[in-house]
Amino acid sequence: MTEGNRLKSLSEDAGGPADRAAALRRVAQEASTCTRCRLATGRTNVVFGAGDPQAALMFVGEGPGEQEDLQGLPFVGRSGQLLNRLMLEELGIKREDCYIANAVKCRPPGNRDPEADEVAACRPYLEAQLELINPKVVVTLGNFATRALLGTEQPISRLRGRAYRFREGYLVPTFHPSAALRGGPVVVAQMRADFVRAKQALQASAPVDGTGEPQPLTMRLL
Ligand code: URA
Repeated sequence: MTEGNRLKSLSEDAGGPADRAAALRRVAQEASTCTRCRLATGRTNVVFGAGDPQAALMFVGEGPGEQEDLQGLPFVGRSGQLLNRLMLEELGIKREDCYIANAVKCRPPGNRDPEADEVAACRPYLEAQLELINPKVVVTLGNFATRALLGTEQPISRLRGRAYRFREGYLVPTFHPSAALRGGPVVVAQMRADFVRAKQALQASAPVDGTGEPQPLTMRLL
């Protein structure tokens, strides 16, 4: 991100965990009145993100749906129920143990896909979340988050199935839970495999050799 695109609320340097959590709250406050794109006009709430601001694992979805817009929280509808279930069954965690955000923070009308300029307008908020939470592993859910963070136009069906080096850790792309709700058991099984991959990436990104560097993932993972 260019310095000119940096958020006002990030102007102070983030220090320790408490400072970072406070900085994240300032960014959320700035986002709550955002008018950077046309999605501002139709929203009920800005859905900034939720979870542990010190999480090692962060999920990035596409954008809020109806329930998320009404409640101001990410993944609280049917997709969220599947996400919660897969998190618990494959990673052994609850949603409050990780951080959940979206590529766009306001609901696209009628649940249409977000436009490229809307994803770009919202990008500084996602970058700020990545910077302040500093997760070891990011799991992207679906085309929009994956393409935005990997900087590619390839479809999720081509991109998933492996882990990518990302920031100081890994990015693991998988399908959006709504695709699994539509696609049935085969897609759910692929998501499960990706969640296992994310778990292995979390283990690999915990340095064990004292260098502070993430450990290489095994060939099986990549
Ligand atoms: N779909 C998303 O991509 N994000 C949400 O928060 C809810 C549904």
